[in-house]
Amino acid sequence: MSELNPDSLHVLEKKVLVYLRENREAELKKISAEVNLTLDQVRRSIEWLKEKNLIKIDITQKRTISLDKEGIKAVKQGLPERQLIKKLEQLGGKSELRILSHELKLSINEISAALGYAKAAKWINVKKENQQVMIHKNNETKLSELEKLLSKMKNSMDLSSFSKEDIVLLKQLSRRANYITETTMKNYNILLTEKGLKVANKTKIDNALESLTPKLLETGTWRERSFRPLNVEAPAPPIYSGRKHPVQRFIDEVREIFVSLGFEEIEGPVIQSCFWNFDALFTPQDHPAREIQDTFYIKDGISSESNSEKLSNNIANVHESGGKTGSKGWGYKWNPKLANKLVMRTHTTSVTVKHLADNIPKEARVFSIGRVFRNEKVTFKNLVEFHQIEGIVVGKEVTLRDLMGLLTKFYHKLGLKKVKFWPSFFPYTEPSLQSMVYHEGLSKWIELCGMGIFRPEVTLPLGVNNPVLAWGGGLERLVMLKYGIDDVRKLYENDLDWLRRTALCP
Ligand code: PHE
Repeated sequence: MSELNPDSLHVLEKKVLVYLRENREAELKKISAEVNLTLDQVRRSIEWLKEKNLIKIDITQKRTISLDKEGIKAVKQGLPERQLIKKLEQLGGKSELRILSHELKLSINEISAALGYAKAAKWINVKKENQQVMIHKNNETKLSELEKLLSKMKNSMDLSSFSKEDIVLLKQLSRRANYITETTMKNYNILLTEKGLKVANKTKIDNALESLTPKLLETGTWRERSFRPLNVEAPAPPIYSGRKHPVQRFIDEVREIFVSLGFEEIEGPVIQSCFWNFDALFTPQDHPAREIQDTFYIKDGISSESNSEKLSNNIANVHESGGKTGSKGWGYKWNPKLANKLVMRTHTTSVTVKHLADNIPKEARVFSIGRVFRNEKVTFKNLVEFHQIEGIVVGKEVTLRDLMGLLTKFYHKLGLKKVKFWPSFFPYTEPSLQSMVYHEGLSKWIELCGMGIFRPEVTLPLGVNNPVLAWGGGLERLVMLKYGIDDVRKLYENDLDWLRRTALCP
């Protein structure tokens, strides 16, 4: 660290330093009185000076015992048991309990406590005579240790001034309500460090200014004044400005990448008919993914969308017999009622296929980012509601190689360098692949998205004749890789601390 320039100190710091230069050490309150600063000003400046290692703070504690309401009374009038003995003496050394109680100016609780203590000290004997409780005073009623201590007590005494034995007695006394209280006071002794002394020796209290005001500028007097240099290394409180959620930030980043690769964004509703979510994607009507355990159905929901008769027929034919695609189809009677059911979309591929049907493109590059829903158990790696990134490329000459190249490029732009592809299966693509990236931190390959070339059973019924490269996969996984998170739920916990601290560019 560079040497500290005394000119960069705040005037409060300078005043305290210069004072300590003469005195080397002093108590906080004393500094405040002698330097003529408020306690608060001294506290602040010593915090700053400590931060710069110019001073040390030596904190000592002082514990004081002071007498409370009952304690003060006992010092004046004696302990209740002593009052009881005195009264018994006045009554001739013995008394009936009721009479004694009546004569004593004590509360019922005090009387019973006094009787208890007096009995324990063997000052009295309690006897039952003719149905009456009689209290007899014994001969030995010398001053107790406790009474001796009380007679020495002043209103406020330093705990260290008591002997070991007295401290035991104080404990006894503290068991009686409102006799004594203990308070702890902190003493702050401020000491100049070696470095502090060096800086203090060079410190002058001048009239350097803290800030430039409009007035100084207007009058031009700033030219004649000196200013305190700014310490740019001083610790400052963190400022948490409003910012986007990391998932949203990542969505923006993905969007940016696709647009830079010449893609256009498409959107679609989160509630879809089974027709778009499954049937148009050549997913058989008895496919397990369509079961209620995997897919959220809208209760009694029936699609009001009317697809052209031609399209419905084409889809029916392709499912039943393969239509004109050269495929054999699934070999069952296609049920339009099942296709009309409404679901929370399970993938964004429903948006893609509807886009193809609506636009019948010969060439296209489109992508979408949206929420999808799956009826699954929530775990560290699964959510019920998450995002997918999806896209297609349509063109006369496009091949699987283009698709692999495109995704490799996409992952590279996200900083994921080691990418590989693995054979996979989807009802709507052939061939089908799975992309994997290597996670350095976890030292393992992670599956990222599914892809392939749409089967003719998907494209031909829509009237799309050119090959369509398609891919789609979860977005949260990528966010997790980016932020080094191992539990996907973290993203939606609304943990403010994490949200504030996630770096914009990890
Ligand atoms: N829809 C698939 C999924 O949800 C991904 C996919 C999209 C696969 C397009 C192939 C083609 O996992």
